[in-house]
Amino acid sequence: MSTQRPRLSVIGTGYLGATHAVCMVELGYEVIGLDVDTEKIGRLAKGEVPFYEPGLPELLTKHATNPRLRFTTSYEEAAEFADVHFICVGTPQKKGEYSADLRYVEAAFTSLSPHLSRKALVVGKSTVPAGTAARMEKLMRSLTPTKDVELAWNPEFLREGLAVQDTMHPDRLVFGVNSDWAEQQLRAAFAPMIEEGTPVIVTDFATAELVKVAANSFLATKISFINAMAEVCEATGADVTALADAIGHDERIGHRFLRSGLGFGGGCLPKDIRAFIARAGELGVDQAVSFLREVDEINLRRRARTLELGLDLVDGTYRGTRIAVLGAAFKPNSDDVRDSPALDVAASIERRGGDVVIYDPHAIENARRVHPGLIYVESLEEALLGADVTMLLTEWDEFRSMDPAVVGKFVGQRNIVDGRNVLDPVRWRRAGWRYRALGRP
Ligand code: UDX
Repeated sequence: MSTQRPRLSVIGTGYLGATHAVCMVELGYEVIGLDVDTEKIGRLAKGEVPFYEPGLPELLTKHATNPRLRFTTSYEEAAEFADVHFICVGTPQKKGEYSADLRYVEAAFTSLSPHLSRKALVVGKSTVPAGTAARMEKLMRSLTPTKDVELAWNPEFLREGLAVQDTMHPDRLVFGVNSDWAEQQLRAAFAPMIEEGTPVIVTDFATAELVKVAANSFLATKISFINAMAEVCEATGADVTALADAIGHDERIGHRFLRSGLGFGGGCLPKDIRAFIARAGELGVDQAVSFLREVDEINLRRRARTLELGLDLVDGTYRGTRIAVLGAAFKPNSDDVRDSPALDVAASIERRGGDVVIYDPHAIENARRVHPGLIYVESLEEALLGADVTMLLTEWDEFRSMDPAVVGKFVGQRNIVDGRNVLDPVRWRRAGWRYRALGRP
């Protein structure tokens, strides 16, 4: 195997894996992408990205006929082809439990290992509870026909919506390894990033696993902190957006991840903090992370509070009202609706008897799969038509830039809940709207 340019496989072609595969080709590597989902692989092979991620379709189109990129559903083919294998499968929350469901990770190792007949490095990128890498190493060793296969853990920090940028120019690389050889292989696999000065932290498996959950726990805590302050602001008449701006100027605090509102969702933050709570319990250190329960609760309270703000505008009952919900994705620039606060609020209003009409620029298809009973429309205007309350729940640019006078012509009543604190209350009130927001007068 050359340490110059190892050949790569990417196992699991979701948001993380597909982006990783295409970006590594862009950076000059030979890559094979594998997924057990034949439809997904078929679409990728045709040059089609099966989800919304800005910048990725252009990059995939650029490399659609590049011989350095191919897709397969065969583990045998991937094992034959690559020197370094990246495991990028999902680790969702188990149904009815806090812990992570590791069945896809286990399946990837179980399926790949028997085909690894020459020296190779397998690299876990999936977010897993501490101790998983050590377990996967044992599992892998029991199944590979050669002793020459090693494991490394390399957590991924990419944000959806910015996945291409985050993959090509990460702010750090974390290599959890057991040998110099594994470190050198990873250095070769990330050479372009290292050449541009990306810091590399070389560590053991457990630390590498923990870096990811610690980072996401910190980010979730920061968001819930400002949202807890929003609750206090409501009780005092203060404005949480001005408060966040003021404290954020302290460089030790910083402005990022201090945007108050409906709170965090998505496929990572919520399930990662819950899995961390579960794992800490198993390790006997539950007290160390018990604050994360509070972080989760503050976050979920934001959804309940948003419902109350809307209720206030319809005189105490949603029954018989028409509610325009703007946004279904868990955040803008993504079509991901996993644990989406916007969709959760929309479904709650519908359960309370409101006629909910949802518009999202990119997430309608995914939202319909999760909540087929809700009404979805294809444009902002259609959603607004005759609405008693307009609820901005995901801060897409299209919603942030709404002109209150213009959109006021479509609605039935000029009532707005700004669930993401992105509109100018003065401007909206001046245009005759009743404006409500979380933590703002
Ligand atoms: C996150 C981490 O940022 C990333 O490093 C990790 O690899 C995966 O999990 P992602 O889930 O794509 O990424 O979204 P992120 O941009 O972190 O936002 C998460 C949620 O927090 C969104 O629902 C967003 O709306 C919310 N959020 C974010 C806030 O409510 N306030 C903020 O200030 C920032």
